[in-house]
Amino acid sequence: MTMPAISAKAPGKTILFGEHAVVYGYPAIAVPIHAVHVKTIVQPAVETGLSMICFRNKGAEENVPLNELGSSHPIHAVVAQLRELIGQDLPPFILTITSTIPITAGLGSSAAVAVAAASGLSQFAGKKLTDTEINRIAYQSEIIQHGTPSGIDNSVIAFEKPIYFIKGKPLQTLTINKNIHLVLADSGERTLTKDVVSQVRKSREVDPEKFETIFSAIGQICRGAKAALECGDLAALGKFMTENHLHLQEIGVSSKKLDRLVNAAIGHGAYGAKLCGGGKGGFMVAICEEENQESIADQLRTFSPQVIETMVTKEG
Ligand code: PMV
Repeated sequence: MTMPAISAKAPGKTILFGEHAVVYGYPAIAVPIHAVHVKTIVQPAVETGLSMICFRNKGAEENVPLNELGSSHPIHAVVAQLRELIGQDLPPFILTITSTIPITAGLGSSAAVAVAAASGLSQFAGKKLTDTEINRIAYQSEIIQHGTPSGIDNSVIAFEKPIYFIKGKPLQTLTINKNIHLVLADSGERTLTKDVVSQVRKSREVDPEKFETIFSAIGQICRGAKAALECGDLAALGKFMTENHLHLQEIGVSSKKLDRLVNAAIGHGAYGAKLCGGGKGGFMVAICEEENQESIADQLRTFSPQVIETMVTKEG
């Protein structure tokens, strides 16, 4: 009897409040973004007996034998940890990874790949893991990818729920009281998150007081935003987002293009907007009323290479 193919999926994410400060122990809020996702399909490698990874992206396909990926590859880390958790080798497999999440753009592409790979491969090996176990595996994979990740990306993606996250503390999922309409727009620029995080670390060493003041203000914003999310106060959320963006500008992680997107979104009726993720490029996120969403998105499309209209529902 041939084993059926197994598929798994993981969403993208956006950080609504608190990126960078979260690395230093301050709270942050992130939500899953279902408009983009990673899908994995796992099939047994019956004919060759050789485990293969097949990366599919926009019509292009790359097939790499698992043993050629190298031990520093994030997928290698996922497989190695699964092996340890299960206590045995996985049967030979073909893992196909397809993603609609833009890479290095602040939308959690690497964490989603790790989550969808861990979920698919564990089911293939006959062991269904809990979200907590998948989250742990994805975090190890993120360490390889990003160096010193806070863990917020893998957490929001593994649990697929809005989260209030403090590094090293038990995860809190958030109950939101109103559907939230978001517009995300690409600056078209790219900088690796680990490079931006390292730049912030160096600047913080030069002026620790300035950075503590800013991070602590971002922490306050997060606490206020948590309450606003829970009671569905969109206008307050927007105000907090724009304030958060100003602080991200102060620590030097915005860019002219991100600022232009933020200003345009607000100028066309969004409650507020900010860059999201590591910054120095990647996406901006704006919060708005449902009836404004399309017109804001259309305006941003005139100069952004990719605009995503999405909604975070009460269910996540
Ligand atoms: O760029 P992203 O989507 O990986 O988000 C990074 C968020 C940071 O706070 C800048 C880093 C981290 O590890 O939390």
